Amino acid sequence: MGGFATPDLAVAVSVAGGLGMLSGTIGAEALSAQLDAVPADVPVGVNFLVPFLDRQALEDAATRSPLVEFFWGEPDPAMIATVHEGGARAGWQVGSADEARAARDAGCDLIVAQGIEAGGHIRGSLGLLPLLDEVRASVALPLVAAGGIGTGRAMAAALAAGADAVRVGTRFVAASESTAHPVYVEALIRSGADDTVLTTAFGEGWPNAPHRVLRSALTAGEALGAAQSWSPEWPSLASSGVIEAYALYAGQSVGAVRSRQAAAEIVHELVAEAEQALQSSGAQG
Ligand SMILES: Cc1cc2nc3c(=O)[nH]c(=O)nc-3n(C[C@H](O)[C@H](O)[C@H](O)COP(=O)(O)O)c2cc1C
Repeated sequence: MGGFATPDLAVAVSVAGGLGMLSGTIGAEALSAQLDAVPADVPVGVNFLVPFLDRQALEDAATRSPLVEFFWGEPDPAMIATVHEGGARAGWQVGSADEARAARDAGCDLIVAQGIEAGGHIRGSLGLLPLLDEVRASVALPLVAAGGIGTGRAMAAALAAGADAVRVGTRFVAASESTAHPVYVEALIRSGADDTVLTTAFGEGWPNAPHRVLRSALTAGEALGAAQSWSPEWPSLASSGVIEAYALYAGQSVGAVRSRQAAAEIVHELVAEAEQALQSSGAQG
């Protein structure tokens, strides 16, 4: 989750039984400091946005993290080889079955299938369920479902549809450990599934890359006119200016954000709800 993925948040997710992720896109030096803050016995993955890849950060992540994952680029066998040489497993977040096959052929160990319900940048054009169907039918690797999963019920549905695990983004933006600006968190809490929009508006420096944000961010940016920057930057505690007009990334899972909660509480709630949903659907079936 880009700069939201601080060690505090990632470690809290992993300690609760998930797999927290850091962002390698922050650069080698900053990533190294973040990895120093992760206890040796807590597994935490590192995600790289391919257009902004830092080779040194990639090599460090490959030796210091159990999972290195990529997003937004042609699956590249040389990058996967670097990950494997360092001793980590390699993953690729994809938006289509073609891209999943390319990731498998490049040597990936797991695939993250991202539906267009997701918050943040969106790679493909399919909803999560049809995408899972297509990827599951063509690639026999461990499969993680991402996009619009904010409740245990949605998590159970993704698992029943062929995923081995789920990825959750938006809910953790509102975690107590997140450095998201309070105005952003409040906007997430107020919003429902139909309050997001897929746009290319916040494309300064990363053009033609569709992303899902709260519709209110687009409206606030348009109201600012020439004063709006349209940077893809999200608002952190350190941000200033009109917070409402920053890129307020949010998935269609946003309706499940109802309060600021500890990351562990979010993980436990999702798992308990999913177990209950799977049991009751099993009982009915
Ligand atoms: C604030 C935010 C930042 C994100 N940054 C990244 C990123 O740096 N790299 C990446 O692979 N995915 C990123 N994503 C997308 C997530 O990997 C995932 O696909 C998405 O959060 C799933 O949908 P959900 O938000 O409805 O849970 C981001 C998502 C959000 C909400």
